[in-house]
Amino acid sequence: MMKLILNNGIEIPQMGAGTWTLRGETARENVRLALEAGFRHIDTAQMYENEEEVGQGIADSSVPRNEVFLTTKIVPNVMRQGEQAVRRSIDESLAKLKMDYIDLLLIHWPVKDCVRHTWQVMEDFVRKGKVRSIGVSNFNPHHLDELLTYAEIRPVINQIEVHPFMSQEENIAYNRQLGIQVEGWGPFGQGDIDVTGHPLLQSLAAKYQKTASQIVLRWIVQRDLITIPRCRPNHFAENLEVMHFTLSDEDMQAVNSLNQNMRSSDMNDPENFPW
Ligand SMILES: NC(=O)c1ccc[n+]([C@@H]2O[C@H](COP(=O)([O-])OP(=O)(O)OC[C@H]3O[C@@H](n4cnc5c(N)ncnc54)[C@H](OP(=O)(O)O)[C@@H]3O)[C@@H](O)[C@H]2O)c1
Repeated sequence: MMKLILNNGIEIPQMGAGTWTLRGETARENVRLALEAGFRHIDTAQMYENEEEVGQGIADSSVPRNEVFLTTKIVPNVMRQGEQAVRRSIDESLAKLKMDYIDLLLIHWPVKDCVRHTWQVMEDFVRKGKVRSIGVSNFNPHHLDELLTYAEIRPVINQIEVHPFMSQEENIAYNRQLGIQVEGWGPFGQGDIDVTGHPLLQSLAAKYQKTASQIVLRWIVQRDLITIPRCRPNHFAENLEVMHFTLSDEDMQAVNSLNQNMRSSDMNDPENFPW
C-alpha cells in the first residue's frame, strides 16, 4: 500500500478503511477481513461506539499491531466536559482498543471554546508515548489559525469532507501551506447526494473499465490526499485496485469541474454546528 509521510516523519497508508456505522460483530469481522485483504489503515472514532470491536478485529487478524495504522477521534461531548474528561476518554479508547498506543488521534469537530484544552491533553499523550500523531477533523482555515497560536505540536492531518461535489480546493491548499496533510471522508457523498450516479463519472467508469466509485477514489488519491472509504468487504478488491491505475490530467480536470461546494448536509458544515 502506497504511503504518505506526515509532518512528523511518520508514514500513513494512503488508503484506509472507515468504520462509521459498523457495529458489533460486523465491525470486528469487517476490520479483520480488511487487514487480511491488504488494508493497513483503519479509521474509527469514540462517536462510532465500535472501538472495542475494531480493536478485536485487529487482534483477530494475522497482521501484527505495528503494521496497522489506527486512527480514533475525540467525541465533541467529552471536549465540552473539560480537560480531565478528555484525558479519561483517551485512556478509555486505549482500554477499549486494548492497545498500548494510538497511531493518530483527532479532534472530531472544532467545538467552540474546547479545542485548546483538548489539544493540550493530546500533546501530553504524545509526550507520554501513548499517541504517535495528533490532528484535527472538520477544521476550516480559521480554526487552524487559532490552534496554531498555542499548539506546541503541529497537527499532522485535517480530516474533512471531500467528494467531487465538494472538492475543497482552497481548504486543501491552505492545509498544505501549513504542512498539514488532508484526509477526505465521505468520498461518495452521503444522504441525498448521488455522486457516483453523475453522468460524467459514469462515462469515465466506462472509459477506464472501472466502477464510478473507483473513479472517485482515484481522483482523491491522485490529488495526493488520503482516503478512507467505508470498510465493506464487497468493496475491498475494488478499492485496493484504485492504487493501480491513473486518470489523465484532462479527466482529473473534468472531475474537478463537478465541484459545487455542496456538503452532504448543512449539519456537516463546521460553521453551522450547534456548539
Ligand atoms: N471526520 C468526520 O467527521 C467523518 C464523517 C463521516 C465519515 N468519516 C469517516 O469516513 C469514512 C467513509 O465515509 P462514510 O462511511 O460516510 O461513507 P462512504 O465511504 O462514502 O460509504 C458509504 C456507502 O457507499 C457505498 N459504496 C459504494 N462504493 C463503495 C466503495 N468503493 N467502497 C466503500 N463503500 C462504497 C457503500 O454501500 P454498499 O456497500 O451498500 O454499496 C457504503 O456503505 C467513515 O467510515 C468514517 O471512518 C469521518
